[in-house]
Amino acid sequence: MGVVKKIGVFTSGGDSPGMNAAIRAVVRSALYHNLEVVGIMRGYEGLINGEIIQMDRKSVANIIQRGGTILKTARSAEFRTPEGRKKAFEQIKKHQIDALVGVGGDGTFTGANIFIEEFGVPVMGLPGTIDNDLAGTDYTIGYDTALNTVVDAVDKIRDTAESHDRLFIVEVMGRDSGLIALRSGIGSGAEAILIPETKTDFPHLMERLEHGRKDKSSKIIIVAEGDDVGAIQVADAVKDRFPNIDTRVSILGHIQRGGSPSCMDRVLASRLGVAAVEALLEGRKGEMVGLVNNEIRFTPFKQAIKHIGEVNPNLLKIVEILSL
Ligand code: F6P
Repeated sequence: MGVVKKIGVFTSGGDSPGMNAAIRAVVRSALYHNLEVVGIMRGYEGLINGEIIQMDRKSVANIIQRGGTILKTARSAEFRTPEGRKKAFEQIKKHQIDALVGVGGDGTFTGANIFIEEFGVPVMGLPGTIDNDLAGTDYTIGYDTALNTVVDAVDKIRDTAESHDRLFIVEVMGRDSGLIALRSGIGSGAEAILIPETKTDFPHLMERLEHGRKDKSSKIIIVAEGDDVGAIQVADAVKDRFPNIDTRVSILGHIQRGGSPSCMDRVLASRLGVAAVEALLEGRKGEMVGLVNNEIRFTPFKQAIKHIGEVNPNLLKIVEILSL
């Protein structure tokens, strides 16, 4: 593949708020550089099926503030097969697409890497996931909005918890990562946070509930979806041991993936989208564009998907200190 004249943009995997801002940034900066740009619907699935639409300045007007993705998204099983990827490449040739920008997470980048190795099509990636579980960027597009959604929900839960003197166990998203739980827990003043990166210390949790301050009228425990114990089981154990504590479980679910992106996510998506197009023009490929210490950073897909599964122990300590 030679000079880049035509770019295809797509979103893939779980959606995240700010994906539209990223699409807008890719389309507008491609046009700024006098490139042609097409949108590929439903991620790799749409590429295989040739669901490809022409994009212009107007097709991305009034979307910066919208959640979800106008290009729709999917997790494509067919793209995981060599036959599926061959079909995708046929479409690339048919539509004379020279390079791709994909917005997504580890599945998106893993697919892109194989596609580059097999067919040499340049692909750059933008980190679009609420989980923040990619290496090579301080924040992923959608994480900040999801945190604000969780904090807003927990504030509301606290109102009712306070009125009824209840303990609420709140489950937040994060199949493999506790980063949503950790930050939203600090931001909402949680008593405890349970995350997949650390083994749940049940005796310690029970100890704290037994000997903690008795005059607290509301208590919130945030549990990440991927925690080794899980919200329901934690609630059952608490009810067993402390029948006098009025305990409820609230699973926030997919509301965390929707909504208008925060300003932080819009700016992040805009900066990364512009950088991705410039990177393709400079001949880069196979990298995720991220922001580290407020500077653009390129990370090979293989490394970006290696989220280390470690959390900052200081943040966990902060929860303990502040929940006195
Ligand atoms: O990848 C983001 C994420 O929100 C995970 O935290 C969660 O486990 C998953 O998506 C759920 O996605 P779905 O319901 O779309 O399969």
